[in-house]
Amino acid sequence: MCGIVGYVGLREAQGVLLNCLSRLEYRGYDSCGIAVSNGHIAQFKDAVRVGALKETCPIFEGTAGIGHTRWATHGLPTAINAHPHFDCSQRIAVVHNGIISNYDQLRKLLIDEGHLFVSDTDTEVIPHLIEKYLDDEPITAVEVALSKLEGSFAIAVLIDGYDRIIASRKESPLVIGIGDNEKIIASDVPAILDYTNRVIYLEDGDIAIVSNNEVQVKQNHGGGTVNREIHLIDWDRKQIEKGAYDHYLIKEIHEQPKVIRDSLANYFERETYDFQSLIDSETSSLVILGCGTSYHAALVGKHIIEELLGIQVRTELASEFVNRGRVMPASAAIAITQSGETADVLLSLKKMKQSVARIFVITNVPGSSASRMANHTIFTNAGPEVSVAATKSYTAQLIELYKLALSSNLLEHSIRKQMQAELRQLPALVKQVLDSESEIANYSRMLSDCSTVFYVGRGINFPVALEGALKLKEISYIHAEGYAAGELKHGPFAMLDKRTPVIAMIAKDDVYDPMISSIKEIKARSSPVIAVADESDDSIGSLADVTIRVPHTSSIFSPVINGVVLQLIAYYTAKYKGCPIDFPRNLAKSVTVI
Ligand code: G6P
Repeated sequence: MCGIVGYVGLREAQGVLLNCLSRLEYRGYDSCGIAVSNGHIAQFKDAVRVGALKETCPIFEGTAGIGHTRWATHGLPTAINAHPHFDCSQRIAVVHNGIISNYDQLRKLLIDEGHLFVSDTDTEVIPHLIEKYLDDEPITAVEVALSKLEGSFAIAVLIDGYDRIIASRKESPLVIGIGDNEKIIASDVPAILDYTNRVIYLEDGDIAIVSNNEVQVKQNHGGGTVNREIHLIDWDRKQIEKGAYDHYLIKEIHEQPKVIRDSLANYFERETYDFQSLIDSETSSLVILGCGTSYHAALVGKHIIEELLGIQVRTELASEFVNRGRVMPASAAIAITQSGETADVLLSLKKMKQSVARIFVITNVPGSSASRMANHTIFTNAGPEVSVAATKSYTAQLIELYKLALSSNLLEHSIRKQMQAELRQLPALVKQVLDSESEIANYSRMLSDCSTVFYVGRGINFPVALEGALKLKEISYIHAEGYAAGELKHGPFAMLDKRTPVIAMIAKDDVYDPMISSIKEIKARSSPVIAVADESDDSIGSLADVTIRVPHTSSIFSPVINGVVLQLIAYYTAKYKGCPIDFPRNLAKSVTVI
């Protein structure tokens, strides 16, 4: 995690660095800092958010600098542990994202050689190592220092008296924005969109020497100079502005009809799919993996593919899979990851490559590490998602899973046509849900005083229950559990009473009757029931305490519709509680550590 930036150009660096850092706060926000070079290196850092640092930071003159926003891994979130970190002479400043796994050993060695450390971070060994080798050219010193590091990193190095910034990456993302007479180094594209839409994605092992008018990229370990293509980003600056909304989260929830429309545009216009028959007669078993919300999309994907195509699908939590001794074979694998940088997913992909021939990645970020590891990448059309809690990216992932299943040659023509017709309706149906926002907001007020909320569903709505509970936990800090409705009787019933609401997703499908039975059992334990039910359901009104009506769809599409309802519930509950919705405590959007 953590966001890093660097700037070399003709403008004053400080304003650019702080602006870019504010765009990277989704990567971590427990402390931040900058360093600017102008004859000497001036630095300021504190255990505050970027907005607060802007208020308190003295004005530094200088047109080159680096900055960092942190998600603590080694050492508490304090001003001392905030980046940049320095060598003994305070001439070398480093910002770092990732983990240096052999830092302890390096630190001991450097201390024995007389280096003085002030922080608890792993990062601090980097400027000291560079200092150790600085008799050579700066670039050689950095190269040698990097060769001593184990683990994952993206770094930017500012050296007093050297008019370039050196940047490098290994298993952590890093891009360079190419402006006219200015270059911006950043962990991710949204940070640079205010200045340019032309970027270079660095590859693992690249070392970039960046000046205002040139980017020279070398391969580490004495490799030669390499050419890295400049990519044009078609994301628009407006997409990373909050506009009139109070939070990014609600803006992103509202973008979902457009996200679905955009995702379907090409698919329907061309009547073909770029990934026609990725799931075909050669696919006898499939594994889908992810973390967090993307894992919940994977669980929904299992239902979609098993039900429509009759192919056996195994789902895996990437954070578990990564430590698994024995990997069971599968004919194809799909990794789902919004960021494309989640460490557990990347390591799982590496592991998977040994036993699975065809690997697909569904991601929202072009150029991301996951997309570079896959045989085929399917890009979701969600646009940049800023709020830490995933909303529109989940919906976009589901749309790609539907398209994938509907494009398979294993599907009967008539079913494909019927499903496609329903898929076309989804943007309008999601809009209908959004139109009932104020009603959902009212019900959410009730939840804001609760200490525990249960979410239940069966079949394809079980993963939706998991996702609803995750959303509520993440942004409102209310304890929430997602459960398969039929499992309540095997333990959780002991928790139910009149102060424990249960939110039940009930679709008009094969599991309707057992869901009704579950709701009756819940009512018999005195828990208030909020049902999220099909508009045509006449029976549910008399059973549930509150019924949120949703437009009718085949239940296979209900994870999209119900997902939006649960996102709104989480948002308004957190809003009534006054929580920092876009940047919940202790979390980060892109989790690049395992
Ligand atoms: C973090 C985010 C979650 C996200 C998960 C997986 O924990 O806070 O919102 O679902 O990572 O991220 P990915 O980018 O792999 O989808």
